[in-house]
Amino acid sequence: MTCSKKAMPKCEEYKGKVVLAYSGGLDTSVAIAWLKDQGYDVVTFTADVGQSVNLEVAKDKALKTGACNAYVMDLTSEFVSDFVWPALKANAMYQGTYPLNSALSRPLIAKYLAWIAKEENAVAVAHGCTGKGQDQVRFEVCAKANHPDLKVIAPVRDWHFSRDAEIAYAAEHGIPVPAEGSGVYSIDENLWGRSIECGILENPWNEPPSDAFTLTKDPWETPDTPLYLEVTFEKGIPVALDGEALDGPTLIKKLNKIAGDYGVGRIDMLEDRLVGFKSREVYECPGAHVLISAHKALETLTLSKDVLQGKVAMEQQYAKMTYEANWFSPYKEALDVFFDHVNQYVNGVVRLRLYKGQAVVVGVKSPNALYKEDLATYSEGDAFDHDAAVGFIKIWGLPVVTWRQEHPADLGALQLLPGMKVSAEETVPLNNAVGGK
Ligand code: ARG
Repeated sequence: MTCSKKAMPKCEEYKGKVVLAYSGGLDTSVAIAWLKDQGYDVVTFTADVGQSVNLEVAKDKALKTGACNAYVMDLTSEFVSDFVWPALKANAMYQGTYPLNSALSRPLIAKYLAWIAKEENAVAVAHGCTGKGQDQVRFEVCAKANHPDLKVIAPVRDWHFSRDAEIAYAAEHGIPVPAEGSGVYSIDENLWGRSIECGILENPWNEPPSDAFTLTKDPWETPDTPLYLEVTFEKGIPVALDGEALDGPTLIKKLNKIAGDYGVGRIDMLEDRLVGFKSREVYECPGAHVLISAHKALETLTLSKDVLQGKVAMEQQYAKMTYEANWFSPYKEALDVFFDHVNQYVNGVVRLRLYKGQAVVVGVKSPNALYKEDLATYSEGDAFDHDAAVGFIKIWGLPVVTWRQEHPADLGALQLLPGMKVSAEETVPLNNAVGGK
């Protein structure tokens, strides 16, 4: 595709075409004008990853702002199948808390940026990130992983505009500026959740106000009776809600609404950024919260003790690599193979109770359950071989008993802590006890 409108650069030199990741917001709209002023033609790319963006409006705005071509794509299905589900199989949560909603969308967008850059014979790709976050690293590393020769431009990082200067520049270029107050938070949203930063949240002593949230209700605004919900999994992937089969994007969307109405999935954390400092981050991820809790519960029913223990470290590594821009790394890909393999047994149904901001797993069942009631029961029908326990304990304890035979324990004189009773009537006086005077 060729551009019909060539850039009219303020600088003399024409530098070629740039593909800009375009959200439709102020920063990336100003970036179109700024890149043109630097001598580039701008092709925009807007991806729908479930953030309810109107693709046609974004396309129109890009073209009106001066882009010579505007790509818009609905990537929700690919986002779910190739990014969200693999992350769910890995129970991926950065610092054990953040389900990586923003981090997971970046490699996908970067992959398409690289692809469009090839299509368009562009010299560079561009994004609207600042120099302080992970997103700049993710876009750049992931775009280059797909197109190693690509140059990356980060206008917002490079232009050194103050907020006022940016607004003045926007006005000069006929770019609409959002009303004062509407931009108090920095928001990034997709199907897997919503990230909320900046403004009043920068002081970690401030409780996130209700107006920070759009997907979840305040717990005190939620119904007074609990809601029971069943999630069916096949090979580690959710396929039905309350028995109704749903495709991935529809299932997550529906669950976001159901769990959000019960106030489930709010996260408030101090996050260790890749660029070195701690940042106060707030998220609302109702669907992700329910699905990760349910998936973990089903794994405890269907996976062996060793696999469950071993995968904890891998899950943390997987989350860290996703957060730190290494989605396309060989190690992360190898971990995917492991998680795919163990998840082939993660089949069954999880029952949850949603109530006042909490989703609690209250039941699990699976055709592949490793839990056997006849082994576990203390009632009639107990199939456990109690007599075998005697020999088992003898051999299980052999190493430690052997050690203690060689190196006997020094039990010393009987010592009791203050207040400990040696008989029903007698209490050891303080001065006889350990630590007494
Ligand atoms: N801290 C999160 C991350 O790095 C979220 C970033 C979201 N971006 C935003 N513009 N609010 O993954």
